[in-house]
Amino acid sequence: MDAVTVMKQEVGRAAAALVESNTIVGLGTGSTTAYAIQFIGDRLAAGEIENVVGIPTSFQAEVLAKQYKIPLVGLDVVDHIDLAIDGADEVDPDKNLIKGGGAAHTREKVVDALAHKFVVVVDSGKMVDSLNSTFLLPVEVIPMAIAPVTRQLEALGAKAELRMGVRKAGPVVTDEGNLVLDLKFENGITDPAALEKTINNIPGVLENGLFVGVADLILVGEIIDGKPQVREVS
Ligand code: 5RP
Repeated sequence: MDAVTVMKQEVGRAAAALVESNTIVGLGTGSTTAYAIQFIGDRLAAGEIENVVGIPTSFQAEVLAKQYKIPLVGLDVVDHIDLAIDGADEVDPDKNLIKGGGAAHTREKVVDALAHKFVVVVDSGKMVDSLNSTFLLPVEVIPMAIAPVTRQLEALGAKAELRMGVRKAGPVVTDEGNLVLDLKFENGITDPAALEKTINNIPGVLENGLFVGVADLILVGEIIDGKPQVREVS
């Protein structure tokens, strides 16, 4: 198994270990969270924890939760979320995030922001000095507004590219039936909180992938002296 996969697995295991009995857990999206979902299912099956229900952040999370026999509920039947576990594409020193590599950031933000505790699971390659340095910023846009939204984002200093499908002709369509623009700000992102609001104020934008002031704990997978370790950033 390659080093990145080992790191993802270890942080997934560490996050799953935080889940307690009788709780409602937000289930994030992506390859790292997939391990957390698997290990939560394993703990339920082993009787280590009981009465845990999940709230999925995507179709992928829903499929995995069903595979690992984690009961699911919707936000209409619960009044709180105890813990959310989710991945990220970049994490800055203030625990601000870029998410949306899986085009699921809209539902992820709803669930992660509602949780009493939001735990982010990443490998060490996701830690950056400033956001948008290694990863483009995803923005979910309703299809009829794609042209004017692109122009307004470019006026903000971003280069915007429509995300295209892999092994599928045409653009990526989100779980909500929308399109995704991936942004590179040539001058970087200096004020993530302001930019998150500015982008979301553009008519036709559903949500962007900046998660500012939402994360409570980052679990970082590292390989030290050839051995996998999990570092906590709180
Ligand atoms: C999906 C996300 C993912 O959490 C993010 O892309 C990280 O994914 P991975 O763990 O596969 O690197 O935001 O929208």
